[in-house]
Amino acid sequence: MPQNIVFSELALELQAKARVIADKYVRPFAAKYDKAQEYNREAAQAAAEAGLFKVFVPVEYGGYGAGSLALCLVTEELAKADSGFGVAYAVNALGSTPIVVGGTDEQKKKWLPAIARGEKMVAFCLSEKNAGSDASGLAVTAERDGEHYVICGEKKWTTNGGVADVYTVFCVTDPTSKSRRISAIVVEKGTPGFSVKKIEDKMGIRCVPVVETHYDNVRVPAGNLIGGREGMGFAHAMQTLDRARPCVAAQAVGAAQGSLDLAIVYSNRRKQFGAPISSFQMVQKMLADMAIKTEAARWLVYASAAAIDTGMQNVTKIAAMGKCFATDTAMEVATDAVQVFGGYGFMEDYPIAKNFRDAKILSIYEGTNQVQRLVVARNLIKESESLSHLQQYIPQEEQKSYKSAQPAKSG
Ligand code: CAA
Repeated sequence: MPQNIVFSELALELQAKARVIADKYVRPFAAKYDKAQEYNREAAQAAAEAGLFKVFVPVEYGGYGAGSLALCLVTEELAKADSGFGVAYAVNALGSTPIVVGGTDEQKKKWLPAIARGEKMVAFCLSEKNAGSDASGLAVTAERDGEHYVICGEKKWTTNGGVADVYTVFCVTDPTSKSRRISAIVVEKGTPGFSVKKIEDKMGIRCVPVVETHYDNVRVPAGNLIGGREGMGFAHAMQTLDRARPCVAAQAVGAAQGSLDLAIVYSNRRKQFGAPISSFQMVQKMLADMAIKTEAARWLVYASAAAIDTGMQNVTKIAAMGKCFATDTAMEVATDAVQVFGGYGFMEDYPIAKNFRDAKILSIYEGTNQVQRLVVARNLIKESESLSHLQQYIPQEEQKSYKSAQPAKSG
């Protein structure tokens, strides 16, 4: 656990700006963009003007370098108003992180300043039709040809695809290698052979496009290879996900809070048996449980972000814990919120149906919650050396064989 969770003045200032944008540009239009499956450009523009894309870009490259906790606070505010817009914002941090953690100084100078100004949006292209949880089983290839790479294949579920200008694409550069097969390469929108082929018709987060990106002999300069060294792609992907998972978890905390707030307001208004339903103990229990879980998720997420900000050595486990717990919480809270709304909650006229649809993806993307639990368990087992002193307190009955436990027969 981090020793300290520090909310810097800058982080709180950015959180307040995000709240203003959420109230003015996001919540009032959430239903409209959900129905139309359209991107909320006004809100993105307002976020850019308020400097919200600078949060995750280091100071040397035109950002605020405000840290992971600040990024979580901003994402939470936006997602509270519309979970879809929360991810539309946060995915820019996800797509930029391979450049931030693995890029050369030249690459950072080339792409990050425009991202920080909100002039260029970003997407992260890892998943493929046959490579979801198995992130190392990629098929998209990048072959070196002189001073270029030639990329071929298809990526699936690219969030922000079409809107984004910069795509960090994970490709196989050495099919013969086991641990160094993959490299991350930047592809810019407009490069010949690059196209968006399928805009998905989704259950939720409908205001942000999720697409297939296709690469038909896309030639990019060799200088677009992130870090300038082949074979670093899987490590860059995993390091990125360690840093991005607190952010998707913050989206979930915002989504859960948004559902809870609606449920409280509605339960005060809705009367049955001559009284507001919020006066009934069964409804109160639901509201209390929703609030307890949301608050618990919030602090686990803040702890995981603070772990990153304070430079904790291994953030993988706590990032996975936060992602898993917060996203399960968002689904549970949305489900209970629909229950509080009763029959009206099932109707699209009421905003809670959208929250319910939006919540489902949270436990699937940026690593399913099954993968998060696997990551947590693997780390627990890896760290178990430090628990070996407890062996002495556990009897070893199970290690004795039945035979040796029997007295020897005589004669
Ligand atoms: N940091 C650095 N390196 C890491 C690492 C980490 N967190 N985790 C693993 N590695 C390294 C290992 O040390 C190992 O290195 P060596 O080969 O040098 O020993 C290598 O990577 C392979 O590690 P594993 O054997 O643990 O890998 P695995 O094949 O068993 O897979 C996994 C592990 C956790 C299942 C991983 O594949 C995974 O996270 N899958 C989920 C993918 C995912 O999250 N996709 C989300 C897509 S993005 C998205 O959804 C965004 C969106 O739309 C909004």
